[in-house]
Amino acid sequence: MPVVIVVGAQWGDEGKGKVVDYLTKKAEIVARFQGGHNAGHTVVIKDKKYVLHLIPSGILHKGTTCIIGNGVVVEPSALIGEIEGLRAKGIPVKKNLLVSKNAHLIMPYHIALDKACETSKGKKSIGTTGRGIGPTYVDKMARSGIRVGDLLTPELFMEKLQANVRHVNVLLKNLYNQKGFSAKKIFDEYAGYTRKLSVHIADTDLIINRAIAAGKNVLLEGAQGTLLDIDHGTYPFVTSSSAVAGGACTGLGIGPTKISKVLGIVKAYTTRVGSGPFPTELHDATGELIREKGGEFGATTGRPRRCGWLDTVILKHAAMINGLSGMVITKLDILDGFSTIKICTGYRYRGKLLTEMPKELGIFENCIPVYEEMAGWQGSTAGISSFSKLPKEARAYIKRIEELVGVRADIISTGQKRDELITLREHF
Ligand code: IMP
Repeated sequence: MPVVIVVGAQWGDEGKGKVVDYLTKKAEIVARFQGGHNAGHTVVIKDKKYVLHLIPSGILHKGTTCIIGNGVVVEPSALIGEIEGLRAKGIPVKKNLLVSKNAHLIMPYHIALDKACETSKGKKSIGTTGRGIGPTYVDKMARSGIRVGDLLTPELFMEKLQANVRHVNVLLKNLYNQKGFSAKKIFDEYAGYTRKLSVHIADTDLIINRAIAAGKNVLLEGAQGTLLDIDHGTYPFVTSSSAVAGGACTGLGIGPTKISKVLGIVKAYTTRVGSGPFPTELHDATGELIREKGGEFGATTGRPRRCGWLDTVILKHAAMINGLSGMVITKLDILDGFSTIKICTGYRYRGKLLTEMPKELGIFENCIPVYEEMAGWQGSTAGISSFSKLPKEARAYIKRIEELVGVRADIISTGQKRDELITLREHF
C-alpha cells in the first residue's frame, strides 16, 4: 500500500512518462500534483507513441484512476483535446479521469500575458512554453484565480471573470499595447468546455485519501524537475510551481506522513530547455551528438534541448530537497559508443572548488564544471533488462553515480519501449 512520488531530478525531460507508465502496472491511482500542459510526457507502447501533457500517463492502463490535483493549472481546451486524442486511439477516458475542483484554470488572458511578458523581456526572457502557466499561478497566489469548480456555478464564474478581465485589459492595453479580452466571449467559450468536463470534476482530495486509507497503491507524478522548481530551482529561470516532492503533498492534499518513497528520475546526461544556467552544457559536436541520439527536442514545443554531461552537484541538491529514496536512471543507451564519459563532481568559481550548488544566480552562471572521466562502452545497452548483462563500463558508470549522489539506483531504463528497463528494486 505504498504511496510513491516520482519527481524529475534535473531540469525536466528526464523520461518520467515512461517510468510512470511502468510503475502504473501496479498502481490503482496515478495523480499529477503541479504544472500544467507545459509538460510533455512521451510513452511508447507496441510502436504506438503517446504524448501526454496534462493527463497522467497512467491513463494508458485499464483500471487505473487518474487524478489532476489541486496544484495543477488546467487549460480546458488542451485537456479536452488530449481526452479526445486518447479516445481516438481507443483509450477510454471517462470517470477514470478526475480533475480537482480546486485546480486553477488557465484563461486566454494568462496565455496572452505569458507571451507579452516574455517578449517584453527580450534577451532576458525565461523561454517559457507560452502556455500561460506563470500568470495563472500569479492569480492563484493573488487570490483572484478562477478554479475548475467555479465552472459549475456560472454566476460566480462570470463575476470572477469580469473582475479579472477588467484588471487584465488595463495591463494588456497600457503595459503591452495589446488588445483586451471580452468576458462574455470567454464565458461562452468556457461554458462549452464545462459541458464536456463536468463529468470529470471531483473532490479529488477525498478520493485520494480514501484510497490511501484503503491500502491502495498510489503513484504521484511530478512534472518538470527539481531545478525548475519555483523555490529550489535556478530562479528566476524556473517554472511557477512546486515540482519537488513536497509539492505532491500540497498539490493533492496528502499529509507528508502518508508518503512511502520518493523516486528521482535522472537522465544519464543532462538537458535543459529555455534559458538559465547549465554548467555542463556542451556547445560542441558531442552536445550535438547527444541531442541527435537522444532525440532531445521538446515534446511540447519542439525546441531543441540544450545537452551536456551528467552533473552530480545538481543531483545531490535534488537528492536532499526531495529526500530521494531511490533513483531511476534513464536513457543509458544514448551514451553507447562514447570512448569516454564525463561526470561533473564540482564547480570551479574564481579559483575556488564548490561541491554544493550555489544559490546565487550570478555565481552559478559562471561556474566551470570539474569533471571526472570514465571509460565509455562500445557495445549496445539498448533493451537490456538485466544489470549483469550491461557492459562493465556501464555498470561502473551507474555505481559511480550512486556513490557521488548518495542514493541507490532502483531502475535503469535502456530504451523507449515499456519493457526496455532493468528493475533492481520493486516499488509496489
Ligand atoms: P513555463 O513552465 O512555461 O512557465 O516555462 C518556464 C521554464 O520551464 C522554461 O525554461 C521552460 O522551458 C521550462 N519547462 C516548462 N515545462 C517543462 C517541461 O515539461 N520540461 C522541461 N522544461 C520545462
